Amino acid sequence: MVVLTFAVVLLSALSAVQAVPAKRQSITALSASQIAAFRPFTFFASAAYCQPSTTITWSCGANCNANSGFVPVASGGDGSDTQFWFVGFDPTHSTVIVAHQGTDPSEFEADLLDADFFLGNLDPSLFPGISSSIQVHSGFRDSHARSAPPILSAVKTAMAAHGTTHVTIVGHSLGAALALLDSVFLPLHLPASTTFKTVGYGMPRVGNQAFATYVDTHVTNMNHINNKEDPVPILPGRFLGFAHPGGEIHIMDNNQWVTCPGDDNTSDLCEVGDVGNIFESSLSDHDGPYDTVEMGC
Ligand SMILES: *[C@@H]1O[C@H](CO)[C@@H](O)[C@H](O)[C@H]1NC(C)=O
Repeated sequence: MVVLTFAVVLLSALSAVQAVPAKRQSITALSASQIAAFRPFTFFASAAYCQPSTTITWSCGANCNANSGFVPVASGGDGSDTQFWFVGFDPTHSTVIVAHQGTDPSEFEADLLDADFFLGNLDPSLFPGISSSIQVHSGFRDSHARSAPPILSAVKTAMAAHGTTHVTIVGHSLGAALALLDSVFLPLHLPASTTFKTVGYGMPRVGNQAFATYVDTHVTNMNHINNKEDPVPILPGRFLGFAHPGGEIHIMDNNQWVTCPGDDNTSDLCEVGDVGNIFESSLSDHDGPYDTVEMGC
């Protein structure tokens, strides 16, 4: 009996130890300076809507010009079949920037609700060594694959030209999904010394739970910022097999930004708990404002 009691005490002690890491992360509000630190990257995500050209003067409105000193390196896409993208160097943060354009919110919501897509495997030539249990939205995958080779080559050029090992990947809406795929893709092709940061805004779910778990364990420094009752981050639905990785930041109705630990945190302070279904959502929240910045050109 004494032995049994001891075993029970030992077991509960062990489970208490194991519970500590989960408890340590709580839903916490970001400080004003933590929020402000995202703003340059919000401007970069917005600037991807502006049909960036590296052959003409880099100028397309306030959101493009907000990051002074930016050095464009390459751009591409056509804004319809393939989203615009640009790669360049940000001297203020000493990082290469990769930015992906999003898409029209109402068309995008319709696409996300459309059953005309499936969860499929990643192309092993772009994603060597990735397990076949990992599946992603076939439309995002195909869109990403069209711009992946020129983006990788531009990132290598920018890293060499500016002597940096930092790469920051940003995007809003569909562009956030493409940015998340880049955050998995680029590390597979760049030196192990490269450090990455990824910021997605209004990001839809991109893949299945195996994909989300891969992102949680391999992608460092990734945040996806969800504004209020934006429907896009709750699509495609979890019942279709989609899951978000961790790294959520939710902007609440009172404009407070909170970190939401875990995958698809269901607390009502976070996106999934706050927006139960699309009828409780507001598409006008999709474009922002994200700390004063409205996405678009
Ligand atoms: C949401 O975050 C809270 C606070 O950290 C945590 O206790 C809870 O387990 C999380 N929920 C999910 C579903 O991850």
